[in-house]
Amino acid sequence: MTIIDDAFWHDKWTKNQIGFNQAEFHPSLTKHWSHLGIGKNKPVFVPLCGKSVDMVFLQKHGHHVFGIELSEKAIKDFSHENQLTLTRTQNGKFIRFSGNEYNLFVGDYFDLEPKDLRNVKAVYDRAALIALPQGLRIKYVSHLQKLLQSGTEILLITISYDQSKISGPPFNISSKMVENLFGDWCNIEQLECLPPEDFRGIQAQETVYRLTVK
Ligand SMILES: C[S@@+](CC[C@H](N)C(=O)[O-])C[C@H]1O[C@@H](n2cnc3c(N)ncnc32)[C@H](O)[C@@H]1O
Repeated sequence: MTIIDDAFWHDKWTKNQIGFNQAEFHPSLTKHWSHLGIGKNKPVFVPLCGKSVDMVFLQKHGHHVFGIELSEKAIKDFSHENQLTLTRTQNGKFIRFSGNEYNLFVGDYFDLEPKDLRNVKAVYDRAALIALPQGLRIKYVSHLQKLLQSGTEILLITISYDQSKISGPPFNISSKMVENLFGDWCNIEQLECLPPEDFRGIQAQETVYRLTVK
């Protein structure tokens, strides 16, 4: 069984095996973001951000974007591919790339503290929760709970498929699992369940949730 640890992700970035990265804004982000009612000036947190162009969408919608990513290569690529001039500084346990309304931390998500995210009032999770195997996933959610204030809105995109047929990442996340992970501390609204699509030879379905921290 593959061990999904920091070395796994660094290896993916080094070898450029980043099939998870999308060239276009995620359609569920463009469809649902404006309906969440998040003020344009409110900072947004993008955990496990990679070099996602979805951060460009959020920045263009007036948000200051906080990201965290293990791979410095990912953040450098993001900066280069989007013609950004970001300043690189050492910031405690993190290397920080900042400027143009971005604050992108290179380091371990689990080292983030609430003070690092200042006034974040929204989170965009695409391919973060689903990237993690079960043990880490529980740790990820419990850490997210520590980082966020009451009233924070989370747009969460999951994928569900028969996990006995293929192994992750991305991992299967059912509605029941979302309920178990977030139900105690978030109000959960399912916004959309997309039609099943072929995924590595089997059927898989994306589901979009709006979670509001209680
Ligand atoms: C499946 S990718 C998704 C990236 C991005 N959200 C997207 O939609 O393209 C997961 C990312 O999480 C990063 N990652 C994994 N564990 C992490 C951790 N503990 N702290 C920070 N980043 C992490 C990996 O390097 C990888 O870029």
